Amino acid sequence: MDAAFLQARIARKTVEATDIVGLELAPLEGTSFPAFSAGSHIDVEIRPGLIRQYSLCNDPTERHRYQIGVLRDPASRGGSVAVHDELAEGQVIRIGAPRNHFALVPARRSLLFAGGIGVTPILCMAERLAQTGAAFELHYCSRSPDRTAYRRRIAQSSFAERVHFHFDDGDAAQRLDLPAVLEPFDADTHLYVCGPGGFIEYVTGCARTRGWPAAQIHFEYFAGQAVDTAGDGSFEVMLASSGRVLTIPGGRTVVAVLAENGVEVPVSCEQGVCGTCLTRVLEGEVDHRDNFLLDHERAANNQFTPCCSRARSKRLVLDL
Ligand code: FES
Repeated sequence: MDAAFLQARIARKTVEATDIVGLELAPLEGTSFPAFSAGSHIDVEIRPGLIRQYSLCNDPTERHRYQIGVLRDPASRGGSVAVHDELAEGQVIRIGAPRNHFALVPARRSLLFAGGIGVTPILCMAERLAQTGAAFELHYCSRSPDRTAYRRRIAQSSFAERVHFHFDDGDAAQRLDLPAVLEPFDADTHLYVCGPGGFIEYVTGCARTRGWPAAQIHFEYFAGQAVDTAGDGSFEVMLASSGRVLTIPGGRTVVAVLAENGVEVPVSCEQGVCGTCLTRVLEGEVDHRDNFLLDHERAANNQFTPCCSRARSKRLVLDL
């Protein structure tokens, strides 16, 4: 975790839907947390050595608390289950300062899409857009009403009428008709989507095929994408400062081999989501496996996330 961590007390832990809890975090020292913008996330140290990122979902003008929502996902790497089973009201934990890789862009109109627990940053965006009087609509897709977090909060909000719920178990009339929502395309509408990988790919793919430019499509994954690692071979990394060459075998990450050899690269999510480990690449071709870099940043081939990304070339020269 970033050295600039904050102490936070779990002021409230609430059940927001089936398998989803909300945590309200209060500052321990002083009376306010650092300011944040809609779309921000924080690192949460669930227990020593277990750090995960969660989007802030409260009103971004608030300083007296941070709110996060966490889905229990037994298929994840253990963070969400630990939040559900191990964290309790009154407990003091460490968190990182807010960071934002999913910021709102000034636009005439915004289209927000949330898939399941991906609603957390989207809800924060809706709060912000409503406050500024901006035009927007929010499409919130989930499996069923009982698995839909923050329904009551949305119903009581000033923007309730702009939120459209779409339940997988509901009738056909209420399903998301994405092509219709994405038409007509105009140059001053921005689209934001957060949710499971398949949901993000569906929404962004549909927008692209309708001519939406990449600059108007914004998304944030909340988990690393599944990558077939069966064919991974070894490659080398050279440290530019010393000329030292290390071999990265198949099945091991660059950060793990670097750490073993005394070269510490800061990490947080370790699954290509947060960007903490971003490292400059001076030579070689990267095999990008993250969900952090944008397409044009990948194409530039001058940085990568060594927690998960690898090399297409025999060697990468790193600015380390
Ligand atoms: Fe999060 Fe590498 S540690 S992207």
